[in-house]
Amino acid sequence: MDKNIQAWNDAARSYSAFEDTSCHSLFCRAFISKHFSDVDKLNVLDAGCGNGEYTHILSQNGGIVTGCDASAEMIKIAKEKYPLYNYEEVNIMGAMPYENNAFDIVFCHLVLMDIDPIDNAISEFYRITKNNGRLFFSIVHPAFYRAEWEKNEQDIVLSKKVFDYITPIAEQQMFWGATMHYHRPISYYLNTVAKAGFTLKEILEPKVYGDDKIPDIPLYLFVEFQKDK
Ligand SMILES: C[S@@+](CC[C@H](N)C(=O)[O-])C[C@H]1O[C@@H](n2cnc3c(N)ncnc32)[C@H](O)[C@@H]1O
Repeated sequence: MDKNIQAWNDAARSYSAFEDTSCHSLFCRAFISKHFSDVDKLNVLDAGCGNGEYTHILSQNGGIVTGCDASAEMIKIAKEKYPLYNYEEVNIMGAMPYENNAFDIVFCHLVLMDIDPIDNAISEFYRITKNNGRLFFSIVHPAFYRAEWEKNEQDIVLSKKVFDYITPIAEQQMFWGATMHYHRPISYYLNTVAKAGFTLKEILEPKVYGDDKIPDIPLYLFVEFQKDK
């Protein structure tokens, strides 16, 4: 088995437990539920669905949602947690088992920064999105990822020091287990998605941090594209 997928299998329980309690995950759930408040009867693919949290939210908002993930362990947790929905074990880096123009929305939350390369996934997303359908993806904001909060002697956060940004770098992270993170600048993502044929609709950089950090620095980058025609 691919070692990145094995790493997600190993990290799945710990990731899911983290997601259940993290205030940042809570923010994302509320943000995404509001952004997709009206998906009534739309066909949605939750690509890299993890423990099924967003498959559940988008279904509750009226979507007809399929959750897919390459990790069998994640799919198992999703089925335990939210058994009502349809889940499939699918690697988004390969040929995806969906018809052309199958989905009104391809939703891919916090996944693209975990895979390398992304080109095939994006081309497949384009193929399976309906004309006038949407691709929505989110990543941890790359401009402030390879960085460190700087504090004064009173432990007050003063700034975030960015070490580097432009050059893509692969690194292992140890938040939930030894999963891979592929840092790339924003231009890399936007150009890859534009090259596949999508048109940019909206970029969102909401305030996530409270006053214990610096609220004016974004944690996430959310991007929505449209497939014209
Ligand atoms: C950071 S988690 C995000 C999960 C979920 N979208 C969420 O926000 O809770 C990344 C997910 O991507 C999945 N993943 C990693 N590589 C993948 C691949 N090649 N194909 C499909 N899913 C993949 C992992 O198994 C994991 O569930």
